Amino acid sequence: MSEEFPSALSRREFLKRAGASGVAVAAGTFGRAAAGAGGGTPEQVHLTWGADPSSEVVVSWCTVEAAVSPRVHYGPTPALGRIVPAETRRYVDGLSGETVICHHARLSGLAPASTVHYAVTADNDAKQDRPFAAGFVTAPRERRGFRFTSYGDLATPNTQWTISSPQARHAIVAVERFAPLFHLLNGDLCYANLNPAAQPAVWRDFGDNVEPSAARRPWMPCPGNHEIEFNNGAQGYGGYLARYELPANGTRFPGRWYAFRVGGVLFVSLDANDVVHQDCGPLVNGPRPLVPALNAGQPPIAPGTALYVRG
Ligand SMILES: [Fe+2]
Repeated sequence: MSEEFPSALSRREFLKRAGASGVAVAAGTFGRAAAGAGGGTPEQVHLTWGADPSSEVVVSWCTVEAAVSPRVHYGPTPALGRIVPAETRRYVDGLSGETVICHHARLSGLAPASTVHYAVTADNDAKQDRPFAAGFVTAPRERRGFRFTSYGDLATPNTQWTISSPQARHAIVAVERFAPLFHLLNGDLCYANLNPAAQPAVWRDFGDNVEPSAARRPWMPCPGNHEIEFNNGAQGYGGYLARYELPANGTRFPGRWYAFRVGGVLFVSLDANDVVHQDCGPLVNGPRPLVPALNAGQPPIAPGTALYVRG
């Protein structure tokens, strides 16, 4: 975190700045947490572009328990001043039975190519005295040069998981070094589905690892085959779609195929999982597990066991 966007503001400083904006932020807004509460503390904070990246950004995060009045305070200066409530999305992981709770707050009406400061909190945020705070820059509206980065197959730095590497942390540092306007997060995000007993835990490590960058600039994901999880949604995207709020573009499958425009460039995210008939099952189940099992000569995939989407 830079000086400009401190990772956290003190409560006193936050209230002082909020008050200085002249916009009402009720006294006590950050002080209603019951003793011992804290399950609504934001984690895994990340940003995505809204339908128009020059005016709309979605702030997303997760909590370990239900959040009471989850919300984002934001504004063009650290004084913040505006408040938008979050929409909560939850699902029960089909393999572990764990409930996952995610929140999405849409910041609209932003000025193009401008800095926005924000803070994320809830009434049962254990860090209300020093809520998570960061900032980002909106996209330009007109044709103009800009920088983006692109990286996929990220995984997590927690090496207890199948397919993980300390490189997953270095990659975040590398992206930040370029200070891009946004990042394209190509599919195979965290490989949670290769750790079937612990999918939500893998997602959590992934979300916390990317936060130092993804909370400061949109990270726009594209689903890979490892985003498909058995028993999580009709097509296995329950975990992916709970965590990401993406441009709908009027398609039947919002969040899977979508597009957004920055300046004079149109970016299109394509979900190829309906046309690939490979199966990653042999990665973990075959007689020769992991990558060698992907070689030709493997037995056919039994019906109903493929991790790819049909139709
Ligand atoms: Fe991959």
